[in-house]
Amino acid sequence: MIPSVYYLFMKRTAEKKPWNLSLNERYEPTVTIIIATYNEAKNILNKLQNIEELDYPKDKLEVIIVDSASTDGTADLAKAHINAATHTISFRTLILEETERKGKAKALNHALKHASGEIIATSDADCLWPRHSMRYAVKYLSDPQVAAVCGQEALITPDNSSATRTESQYRGLFNYIRVGESKIHSTIVFEGALALYKRGLLKRFDEPCDDSGSALDLVQKGYRTIMVPDIYFLNPISSKWSEKLAKKTRRAQHLVEIWHRCLSLDLKRKLKLNSWISRVNVFLYIINPFLFPVFILTLTLLLIEYPVVILATPLILLIPKGRDLFLLYFTNYLFLLQAIFMEMLGKKQVVWKK
Ligand code: GDD
Ligand code: MN
Repeated sequence: MIPSVYYLFMKRTAEKKPWNLSLNERYEPTVTIIIATYNEAKNILNKLQNIEELDYPKDKLEVIIVDSASTDGTADLAKAHINAATHTISFRTLILEETERKGKAKALNHALKHASGEIIATSDADCLWPRHSMRYAVKYLSDPQVAAVCGQEALITPDNSSATRTESQYRGLFNYIRVGESKIHSTIVFEGALALYKRGLLKRFDEPCDDSGSALDLVQKGYRTIMVPDIYFLNPISSKWSEKLAKKTRRAQHLVEIWHRCLSLDLKRKLKLNSWISRVNVFLYIINPFLFPVFILTLTLLLIEYPVVILATPLILLIPKGRDLFLLYFTNYLFLLQAIFMEMLGKKQVVWKK
């Protein structure tokens, strides 16, 4: 009930509410794009090519690849590509090689020390940006209130399996909510695959939540951090539930951690984010998952009491849309419950299986 009402309210806000920003279309700052890599040999050249295709002045672009001791030759491959006589790279590049894998957020902080751009952008090796991304994104940073901007995830779905269908459904709901929150003030649920931050305001990336944790820090400093609908990145997703599980649990854990931080700040009356946005999300991400098993139990008891309903239930699951929605809610609550327990046990996912 609360998730649906919140979604509908935010969807309306996203569609109808103006941004209330003063944007300068001609703003063209220097940008450093940082790409953290671990075993990305199959993606890194495409990624460099993708950046080359951006319609942003190349003399204003710098790219730093920070590689954490990949075992598949990612860094060598990138170096060879950049140094090749026939290369097509026309922006400045720097490759940093770490001797040990300490996680993406630490690698980003390492690269940040070497970055010279007025704007710091982050991206992942396996995602692609449309040509206009940088030009559209910097425009939002021309407003002095905005400290960071991020794009929406658009999925590259390999097939029509239940894992990809439910992910598309989830993204449809999620993106509206984040844009709605951004229009009200800010979203702190950020996307590290296409995020831009003002260098002067970003002292360091949060560890381990480099995207959402950094956005929360900036909101706490009194700025806005927004997700905008005209910027997106293309991300490949897996059609296997087993692979999806690992990724979703990791992301759920970051979200639980971030809303937990907001709850603590709210209780101390120190939260600068709109308190309703925070409270609803604390409910959705931390409290609601515990109510789900109660809901299932009540439903089961009702079914035992009124067996005739048992016949109707499988009917709902026969409708493909109903089945997907049930699967989406059911798996999301499981991911969140697992994430909450890991958070309670103090188990952080600093590095993850590639
Ligand atoms: N240098 C470095 N060191 N880079 C790393 C490490 C590491 O230990 N681990 C992962 N990366 C790099 C990957 O090579 C990739 O370029 C990027 O970080 C994102 O990692 P993926 O493995 O592709 O993860 P994802 O697709 O689930 O990414 C999403 O979730 C992450 C947080 O859980 C994105 O939203 C990321 O931006 C986000 O950080
Ligand atoms: Mn990825």
